[in-house]
Amino acid sequence: MTEVLAHPATPTTPQLAPPEPPPIQGAGKPMLSARTIARRVRQLGQEISVRYAGLDQPLVLVVILKGATVFAADLLRSLSIPAELEFVRASSYGGGTSSTGKVKFAHMVDGPLTGRHLLLVEDIVDSGRTINTIVRKLKSHRPASVKLAALLDRPARREEPVDIHFTGFVIPDRFVIGYGLDYAGLYRELPAIYSLG
Ligand code: PRP
Repeated sequence: MTEVLAHPATPTTPQLAPPEPPPIQGAGKPMLSARTIARRVRQLGQEISVRYAGLDQPLVLVVILKGATVFAADLLRSLSIPAELEFVRASSYGGGTSSTGKVKFAHMVDGPLTGRHLLLVEDIVDSGRTINTIVRKLKSHRPASVKLAALLDRPARREEPVDIHFTGFVIPDRFVIGYGLDYAGLYRELPAIYSLG
């Protein structure tokens, strides 16, 4: 018989009040709705599957934590070719709305990448420093190829040229949250993408 567990006791330690939500532009209307994102991610999955069809080894998706996790999970399930997952933990934004200019690494891929076809998966490309730093590091593993899929391209903030091989959407110079993108670590769970005022 299935045992029904009691709800955990109410914590006795005081809980911190949630932070004030930042103002969302356009009275809560998303810049990109969940449906629009889903449709584009499916198209990207098809394009990528065609581009990499017939590889003798699975494609390696290199997911850039943390923002790209939601996009990567959906993109992975849109593929019709075999794929493996690797992760890189890089951050440059700290808690604010503009890049600190320094790319910090907490984790680099686990598996051997020599001779493998790598597809980096990013949520957003701004200055280009994060992705270019990662590409340089990954190329030292001598992969067969390195390409980039970015859900969002915000070219107004570009400081270095970046080759984006599969782009979801080109967006204006607005700070965006949702679908993995955060403000101070929050709002990644929103299914659509919103612009902050
Ligand atoms: C964001 C985003 C990219 C990077 C883009 O990461 O996910 O990795 O910034 O900026 P750039 O093109 O100017 O380098 P963030 O530092 O916010 O970390 P997170 O993914 O954990 O949110």
